[in-house]
Amino acid sequence: MAQAKPLSRPLAIVTGASSGIGYELARLCAENGYDLVIAADRPLAEAARDLRAIGANLETVEADLATTAGVDRLYAAAKGRAVEALLANAGHGLGHGFLDQDFAQARHVIDTNITGTIYLVQKVGRDMRERGAGRILITGSVAGFIPGSFHAVYNGTKAFIDSFSWALRNELKDSGVTVTCLMPGVTDTEFFERAGMMDTAVGQGSKADPADVAKTGFEAMLKGEGDVVAGWKNKFQTAAASVTPAAILAEQHRKQAEPGSGRPDEPSVSARRSAGR
Ligand SMILES: NC(=O)c1ccc[n+]([C@@H]2O[C@H](COP(=O)([O-])OP(=O)(O)OC[C@H]3O[C@@H](n4cnc5c(N)ncnc54)[C@H](OP(=O)(O)O)[C@@H]3O)[C@@H](O)[C@H]2O)c1
Repeated sequence: MAQAKPLSRPLAIVTGASSGIGYELARLCAENGYDLVIAADRPLAEAARDLRAIGANLETVEADLATTAGVDRLYAAAKGRAVEALLANAGHGLGHGFLDQDFAQARHVIDTNITGTIYLVQKVGRDMRERGAGRILITGSVAGFIPGSFHAVYNGTKAFIDSFSWALRNELKDSGVTVTCLMPGVTDTEFFERAGMMDTAVGQGSKADPADVAKTGFEAMLKGEGDVVAGWKNKFQTAAASVTPAAILAEQHRKQAEPGSGRPDEPSVSARRSAGR
């Protein structure tokens, strides 16, 4: 008979743990002795199996975290247990020019990346403040530094998150609760495929390994750092962005994200994965 694991392990909530950076963050939590509540809006069985094999007690929640009802279900899944770490990572993009986007889809980007994220942070953060302890890691992006032509709503949401994280961190100083913002650059996940950006230069260009990005964020969270930009190229990019006129940044972004800016015959991420590339 399987031995029940002790309940004294710390608990982490990780959102967007079905793939990419969130999956790698959940792995790091499991490897570092956390039990987990993981959430995404698609089935999590595969991720759950891997994480349980590492030794984590684990609950899965399939919910649309763009909705307050979805976030409420996730919060309830912790069953009142103290959440030591909240890794609010779920998010998605949406390519094409803003006027050509479906408004419901554009709104879903805002509701996921901003509304659902800060609602969850508020609920869990209040408990942490009450206990005088806790770590919050929010996945922002270097995109928050750049006006995102042909990815405009997404970049705007990340500008919000990058800024919000610093403000909340300041509000919570001396409370025992730390807030860290992980700001990845372009990372090799399913993000660009889901955003409909595989015909763009950024969708097809070289990308960071999500495991490395997650490790950078996880370590910064444990140290209680304010923010961390994953990768030296992105550190340079964010430094340059702060002294570059917005019009130039927007034009540079157009070259990367305009539909058709990539090579027409480039295979998708999933096709490359199945071909072992
Ligand atoms: N990849 C990049 O280049 C990059 C760069 C900077 C920042 N980021 C940020 O990193 C985070 C993770 O993205 P990723 O690159 O790892 O992409 P990914 O592989 O597509 O993972 C995104 C995760 O978020 C979940 N998610 C998205 N919308 C959701 C919703 N409404 N409700 C519940 N779950 C939702 C997805 O769940 P399902 O599987 O159920 O859809 C998935 O688990 C995002 O916040 C993204 O903005 C990514």
